[in-house]
Amino acid sequence: MFQSKIAGIGHYVPETVVTNDELSNFMDTSDEWIQERTGIKERRFGSRFKETTTTMGAAAAKIAIKKAGITAQEVDFIIFATLSGDYYFPGCGVLVQRELGITEQEVGALDIRNQCSGFLYGISVADQFIKTGMYKNILLIGAEMHSMGLDLTTRGRDVSVIFGDGAGAVILQPTQEEGKGILTTKLHSNGMYAEKLALLNPGSHGGYHLNKMGIEQDLGYSDAKYGDVFVSQKMLDDGHLYPNMEGKFVFKMAVKKFPEVIMEALATAKLTPADIDVLVPHQANLRISQFIQKILKLRDDQVVNNIQKYGNTTAASVPIALSEAVESGQVKSGDLVCLAAFGSGFTWGSALIRW
Ligand code: COA
Repeated sequence: MFQSKIAGIGHYVPETVVTNDELSNFMDTSDEWIQERTGIKERRFGSRFKETTTTMGAAAAKIAIKKAGITAQEVDFIIFATLSGDYYFPGCGVLVQRELGITEQEVGALDIRNQCSGFLYGISVADQFIKTGMYKNILLIGAEMHSMGLDLTTRGRDVSVIFGDGAGAVILQPTQEEGKGILTTKLHSNGMYAEKLALLNPGSHGGYHLNKMGIEQDLGYSDAKYGDVFVSQKMLDDGHLYPNMEGKFVFKMAVKKFPEVIMEALATAKLTPADIDVLVPHQANLRISQFIQKILKLRDDQVVNNIQKYGNTTAASVPIALSEAVESGQVKSGDLVCLAAFGSGFTWGSALIRW
C-alpha cells in the first residue's frame, strides 16, 4: 500500500470584492450584524460574463498542477466537489477536463455533491485510489459560484450574506516518505436533517419528502397532493429556487460534529489535540471556528481563518484556506495539519495530514 500526499496546491478567488456595506444596498442588513454573527467582512463575487465554477476551478487547478511539478496531461483522475455546478448535469468534472485541454487522455472524472464537506470527501476518495496504486496524479477541486444563485433581497438575507465565490485545488500523489502525507480520513452523514440546509428546487421530489416530513411548500401546481412539477414560475416568485437554512439548528449541529470528527481522526492516528500544529476548519462561521479552537485548546496562530475576506465558499473553503496557509508559511514541512468540515446533508468529515 502507498501513502498519499498533497504534492501541489493552489487557489483562485474572483477580483470583485463585495463588502457588507455593499450588500446593505440590496437588502436590509448591516456590516455590524454580519460581522457580529459570522465574522465576515467581505466576500468575492465572480464575473457573470467571464467566470463559472469550472473556470475558477481550472484556474486553481493550473496552480496546483504547476506546484506539483507535473503537466495537466499527467493528471490521471479528476474529482470535482461543488454544489453550484455550471449545469444541473453534467457535472464540473468533465467541464474542467475540457477547460484544461486534457480531453484526449479520457481520464475518469467524478463529481461530488457533499456541499461544505465535499473537499473532505474528495480527499478521502483520492486517498483510497492512491493507496491501492490505481492512480498517481489525482486532481481534486473544490469550487463554488454561489453569487449566481443567492436571493440578494431582504427575503434571503440570512443565507445570502454568508456565501462567496472561489476555488481551491490540490494534486494528490503517492509518497514513499515514512510517516508523511495523509494519515487518516473520517467521513459521516445524517440524512435525517437533509432539508435543514438545502436547495430543494428544481428537483424530482414532487413534494414527496416534504409532505412526508410535514414541511409545507406550495409547488405551484393546483390540486396535486405532492405536486409534480420540476420548476415553475411560482417557485421563482416565492423564493423556492434559492437555498434555505435553519441557521441556529445548523450552528448547533456544527459545533457538536466538528470536535467529534476531529477527535475520531486523532484517536485513529493515536494522537491528541496537543499534537495538532495547524487546524484548517471549513469556513462556515468565525464563531464556529472559535468554538472548536477553544475545545481543542489551540492558539490563534494554529487556526486558519479567512472567512473575514471570502465568506463561506462551501466546497472551496478548506482548499482555499489550506492554500493560503501553505503560501504564508503557516503550514510547514513536518506539521500535523487537521482539516475538518461540516455542512448540508448533513455531511461532515476530517483528515489528518503530516505535511
Ligand atoms: N441582516 C440583518 N438581520 C438579519 C439577517 C441579516 N443578514 N439575517 C437574519 N436577520 C435577522 C432575523 O430576521 C432575526 O430577526 P428577528 O429576531 O426580528 O426575527 C434576527 O436577525 C436573528 O436571526 P437568526 O437567524 O436567529 O440569527 P442567528 O443569530 O441564528 O444568526 C446565522 C444567523 C445564519 C449567522 C447563524 O445561525 C449561523 O451562522 N448558523 C450556521 C450557519 C452555517 O454555518 N451555515 C453553513 C454551514 S456549512
